[in-house]
Amino acid sequence: MKNYPENYPENYPLHSSERERHRLKMQAQALIPLSERMLSGAGIAHGAQVLELGCGSGEMTLLLAAAVGPTGRVVAMDSDPAQIEAATAKIADAGFSNVSFVLADMNNFVSEQIFDAIVGRYFLLYIADPEAALARMVRWIKPGGALAFLEMDFYRGVRSSIWPPVAAETNSAIEFIADVMLDAGINPHMAVRLPSMLAHYGTVHAETAAPLQFGASSIELPLEAVRSVIPMARKLGRSDAYRYDVDALIAAELQGRDHRTVTMPPLSVAAWVHTN
Ligand SMILES: C[S@@+](CC[C@H](N)C(=O)[O-])C[C@H]1O[C@@H](n2cnc3c(N)ncnc32)[C@H](O)[C@@H]1O
Repeated sequence: MKNYPENYPENYPLHSSERERHRLKMQAQALIPLSERMLSGAGIAHGAQVLELGCGSGEMTLLLAAAVGPTGRVVAMDSDPAQIEAATAKIADAGFSNVSFVLADMNNFVSEQIFDAIVGRYFLLYIADPEAALARMVRWIKPGGALAFLEMDFYRGVRSSIWPPVAAETNSAIEFIADVMLDAGINPHMAVRLPSMLAHYGTVHAETAAPLQFGASSIELPLEAVRSVIPMARKLGRSDAYRYDVDALIAAELQGRDHRTVTMPPLSVAAWVHTN
């Protein structure tokens, strides 16, 4: 039996599973350039002490561990014990010994340690009051330290799209991801809100991107997200919670596709600030 932290966030809409970790890995590949620009813009270099919030299965943690090098340190935090377990193994397999992990919920997490930077990727959108969270975490960085976040927007019209076009049922399954997220109370405008939230702490640098994925298998990225939100859809009692057969959709969409398939994800913004 695993010890779940008190107040484990109940609204987190992506079910923790091996498939979800596979999806996070696919997603992370395309995000490497934007993530690395954010880390270097935020001044995260060898020797830095960094706190990562919502590390998930450790994809961003890998980039951080490489950026801070053997003389730096990363403390990576997440509220999901299965993700922490997977991230711990991933970091060890990659040969890094400069990362420690903390199982905690941001809603009641307090850091005793002071860092050079705090980083999160696809994290603040899941926090009910991100402004209050930033106001709390800014106390855990030293003066001139950095806050750096990469977040997404998924309101209607800014959702994944695929070329050549997918079947109507696949499109509706992709719409379903965002509908479930909205229903779970997840913030659909975090990317566009982020620079303005960070402006409270200093001069903001921001970049936007929707990094394309190529090849037939890129259709798995949104369709695996459909799979990951189904348990939340069931919990919410949605009438469409049993509608989608993800394996059947993937098999049907793979038919006839080749390397010319392009999957465009929702829009992301990376923004960072050095505190005054
Ligand atoms: C979409 S995943 C992103 C993981 C990773 N940052 C990446 O880019 O691959 C979001 C992560 O935030 C974590 N999370 C959500 N709400 C949280 C909270 N209140 N406290 C701590 N972690 C949380 C989830 O468990 C999940 O692992």
